[in-house]
Amino acid sequence: MNPRTDARLGKIIRLLTDNATVVVSGTKLADEIGTTRSEVWRLVQQLRELGVEIAGHPATGYQLNAIPDLLLPEMLATSLQGTIFANSKTIHHFYKISSTNSEAMEAASQGAPEGSVFLAEQQTAGRGRGAHNWHSAQSVGIYCSVILRPLLPPAHVLVLSLAAGLAVQATVREVDDRVTVDLKWPNDLLINSKKFCGILTEMNAEVTRVRYIVVGIGINVNQRSFPPELKDSATSLRIATGTEWSRVELCVALLKSLDREYRALVEDPKAHQDILQRFENNSSCVRGCAVRIEENAEFEGITEGLDSRGFLQVRTKEGLRTVLSGTVRAI
Ligand code: BTN
Repeated sequence: MNPRTDARLGKIIRLLTDNATVVVSGTKLADEIGTTRSEVWRLVQQLRELGVEIAGHPATGYQLNAIPDLLLPEMLATSLQGTIFANSKTIHHFYKISSTNSEAMEAASQGAPEGSVFLAEQQTAGRGRGAHNWHSAQSVGIYCSVILRPLLPPAHVLVLSLAAGLAVQATVREVDDRVTVDLKWPNDLLINSKKFCGILTEMNAEVTRVRYIVVGIGINVNQRSFPPELKDSATSLRIATGTEWSRVELCVALLKSLDREYRALVEDPKAHQDILQRFENNSSCVRGCAVRIEENAEFEGITEGLDSRGFLQVRTKEGLRTVLSGTVRAI
């Protein structure tokens, strides 16, 4: 879907939300967005296909049946006042895109400011760590990437990425404290040992200075099932709790939580150590856990916490090893 159509769909929803108690004529909608009544009808049909419940037709006018749970800038910006994500002009929403991380990396390379947010209802080529895909079905998950421009050396970016995991964990706790979320180093979030969130952090840096970072967060929210290849390893907040979650509420809480972690990290010299400590405290497998590390060469051992840069330490028969990347499996 092209950005112009995206913007027009957003405007129709905003106009219908602003006038939620009345029927809005097709002519009024057409005038407001500068198009024809037949184009408004086509856009309304498109919104219905996306799951937005709109009553009416061109002759009678249109009315929203329910405020849709879409991640539109208008739905988010006012709740984000006081954070680096508050500017509705730099919150970008897409109904369908290849990958919000790719879009954000491209925008960052063109100078998009810190705090820019990229959200999609659906990704056609969602990317995970290590060349994996991220299953991104329409309007059931949060697919979110943010641009940050911290004055940090590249070696500190892992800690920022760990902080993003803590931010997601705090978000879920804030919205529903019955859910217990576990952190798996470096960037997986699990419920009942199944993954419901992954984080892909990408950066452009000089040797000593970060130019920009994109933190991409995928959260499985309202999925009721997964394709066969994922069903044993993936879960969603909906599956874990049996109830539907508001993606708008979660997304606002997520961006606020991310803002808190990020500001602390760039402003408070003690935050780096504090993040490492909290990650250890909130992860069941960072210390004293038997693991297999699937890196270039596989090895097994017992986890011994994080080093000062955030890398996982594993005690093997041959001695202490530092895990720089790869997959950690509890055994
Ligand atoms: C992983 O666990 O492998 C990381 C998954 C990251 C997925 C998110 S969804 C939003 C953003 N856009 C992408 O293409 N990927 C990240």
